[in-house]
Amino acid sequence: MRKILIVGSNGLLGQKISKLFSLSKMYKLLNASIENESYVDNIDYTQLDVTNRKNVLGIVEDFEPEVIINTAAVTNVDYCETNKEIAWRVNVKGVENLIYAAKFVDAKIIHFSSDYVFDGRKGSYVETDVPNPVSYYGRTKLASENVLKLSGLNYTIIRTMILYGVGKNVKDNFAIWVYKNLKENKIINVVDDQFGNPTLVDDLAYAVMRVVEYNRDGLYHIAGSEIVSRYNFALQIANQFGFDKKLIIPIKTAVLKQPAPRPLKSGFVTLKAVSELGIKMSNVEDGVRIFAAQLQNYLNEQKSNQ
Ligand SMILES: NC(=O)c1ccc[n+]([C@@H]2O[C@H](COP(=O)([O-])OP(=O)(O)OC[C@H]3O[C@@H](n4cnc5c(N)ncnc54)[C@H](OP(=O)(O)O)[C@@H]3O)[C@@H](O)[C@H]2O)c1
Repeated sequence: MRKILIVGSNGLLGQKISKLFSLSKMYKLLNASIENESYVDNIDYTQLDVTNRKNVLGIVEDFEPEVIINTAAVTNVDYCETNKEIAWRVNVKGVENLIYAAKFVDAKIIHFSSDYVFDGRKGSYVETDVPNPVSYYGRTKLASENVLKLSGLNYTIIRTMILYGVGKNVKDNFAIWVYKNLKENKIINVVDDQFGNPTLVDDLAYAVMRVVEYNRDGLYHIAGSEIVSRYNFALQIANQFGFDKKLIIPIKTAVLKQPAPRPLKSGFVTLKAVSELGIKMSNVEDGVRIFAAQLQNYLNEQKSNQ
């Protein structure tokens, strides 16, 4: 059995990856995240703070994983802009700690980065395009890529964007935020000048499994198959749930005044990942349909547990 350590396993992507891998008998898993309890059932769990080198080393030396999948990060872009020290400590130093520990057991690291490494002037980015982050979060993600590239370890860096999906106790992602507000008939302002590929997190988890199965190294852009504006994405969510689309007001990024600058014209070309990994990434319509079904199941489960 191949031993896999999933770091940040309580986050949205971490939950999906660990659940998917647990369906296969090929893997022995250890989940690890900052919280003292696991949000995923039936997988061994240990508390882990990536900023604590001793803690990281102890767990890695004990478990001796062949692969470390690192989904842990401070992911709130505006929070990173005003809390730079903690953002750097988790997003960069945390990766350095994982690298340090991985060297003791010769583990490979699979790590996640973001389209926010680009400035968003051009859009449709390929893996060889030159990064130029405009936000502090983007800078931390680019730095995390660089420390991994220079580590001497085997690695895969997966850049992704606009993750949406359903998970236990996870922070509201964009799709959940739209759903919650429209369900209560609240008006929402949504930017119509930020473009990217909304990515159903389940598709990404599947792609990660392929990376492991096919032993793929290097850099991949993995995201949904369609580039749309946030406004268009919100409209398609409203459409799927039958909500009133007039509640969604299109606005410009300049008016919204988010603390962190955003790459406006983003978007990935995912050809390399699709062809090398043999994956199919959902378009927005299909992804949102799957998301809606999962959300309904999740809400039903919660109701029956009450
Ligand atoms: N979400 C997106 O749209 C998006 C886009 C591009 C790239 N990515 C990248 O994809 C990866 C996964 O994202 P996600 O959406 O699944 O994020 P997420 O839901 O925020 O999950 C990250 C997890 O890491 C945990 N964590 C934070 N600090 C930690 C620490 N010191 N030690 C251990 N765990 C810690 C978080 O705990 P707390 O919740 O308690 O902080 C959370 O459970 C990240 O690398 C992110 O940068 C995400």
